[in-house]
Amino acid sequence: MSNPVLEQLTERRSVRAFTGEAVSESDLAEIIKATQQAPTSINGQQISLVVVRDKERIARISELAGQPAIAAADTFVAFVVDFNRTAEAAKLVGTEQIVERSAEGILVGAVDAGIALATFQAAAAALGYGTTPIGGIRRNPAKIIALLELPPRTYPIVGSTLGVPDQERMTQRKPRVPVESFAMPERYDAEKVAEGVAAYDEVLRSWWDAQGLTKMAGYAQETAGVYSRIYYPDVAKTLRAQGFEFTD
Ligand SMILES: Cc1cc2nc3c(=O)[nH]c(=O)nc-3n(C[C@H](O)[C@H](O)[C@H](O)COP(=O)(O)O)c2cc1C
Repeated sequence: MSNPVLEQLTERRSVRAFTGEAVSESDLAEIIKATQQAPTSINGQQISLVVVRDKERIARISELAGQPAIAAADTFVAFVVDFNRTAEAAKLVGTEQIVERSAEGILVGAVDAGIALATFQAAAAALGYGTTPIGGIRRNPAKIIALLELPPRTYPIVGSTLGVPDQERMTQRKPRVPVESFAMPERYDAEKVAEGVAAYDEVLRSWWDAQGLTKMAGYAQETAGVYSRIYYPDVAKTLRAQGFEFTD
């Protein structure tokens, strides 16, 4: 591949094995600066980061997420949907903000957080660091909210680990569904998507074998196993407790 940015993006994978070396303060500052330049809906800048470097606090997050791998990271970053910031703007001009009480509000926050997360991960990779997105911060959201001291109108929607990758323990790049069932010309093609799922089920199963994880199921079983239950049952009530409600 001829372009280093494309190469980095195409080769990306989640990193869960770290050496334990520290991320330098100057690198962290550069990664944060790049992340902050990500676009946001209406330039509302309704995303804040809480950067956790205290190892005991990272261990606590690891415990709350139920994921021991998080504790090996040097740094943990929580991506917070932050309509507290925009409420300050509303206050400045004497207006009542209601965006967090609409379905649109939660979509805006989720999209902007995803863009920030992807930017953060790409910036980290550009400096040689490894990351994994952590949806697990929604497993015990009330405790995460308390730990990070998040005010009303904010929500810890996703997190990311950050650390120096242990090259000896890296997995290979994970394959994806066939590209023609991912990007479709002009119109959605449900048949192609179904074919892609069936083909990918086999591909992923073999990939797990090649990683030495022979107990992992294929795409169908893995995905269906999660998506047939409410796997983070505290999300709706903690969203409401933080002031997010679908009143529209
Ligand atoms: C929003 C989001 C949340 C995720 N949450 C977790 C998580 O809590 N723990 C984890 O180990 N991986 C998590 N992942 C990583 C996915 O499992 C991973 O991206 C997927 O298996 C593809 O593997 P790859 O990133 O190595 O290509 C998350 C990914 C995304 C995008």
